[in-house]
Amino acid sequence: MEFKDLVMQRYAAKEFSSERVPEEKIEELVDLIRYAPSALNLQPWRIRILGDRKDREALAPALFGQKHAVACSHLFIFCADTQSTR
Ligand SMILES: Cc1cc2nc3c(=O)[nH]c(=O)nc-3n(C[C@H](O)[C@H](O)[C@H](O)COP(=O)(O)O)c2cc1C
Repeated sequence: MEFKDLVMQRYAAKEFSSERVPEEKIEELVDLIRYAPSALNLQPWRIRILGDRKDREALAPALFGQKHAVACSHLFIFCADTQSTR
């Protein structure tokens, strides 16, 4: 596939089915995230994954009530790790 086609086909999903993403897929994603580039390779983030709907509901006000953030299978939250050093 051409890079341009890849870019043009990308989109932000705003609605999700009720299908749950298998845990092995989630683990695969977490592993792939490790390859994301970062300044000085500090990797200054911590990832929290909310796979439990109750946790996403509790967080909904902080997400401006975005329904798809609750309806999704898993919500990945990237937190800045301000303590990371070289
Ligand atoms: C930094 C950033 C934050 C975003 N935050 C949200 C968000 O909180 N909720 C959401 O539904 N989409 C979010 N988006 C997705 C944008 O709404 C989306 O990229 C934009 O509407 C363009 O649509 P497209 O990505 O399908 O082309 C975010 C995108 C970026 C780059």
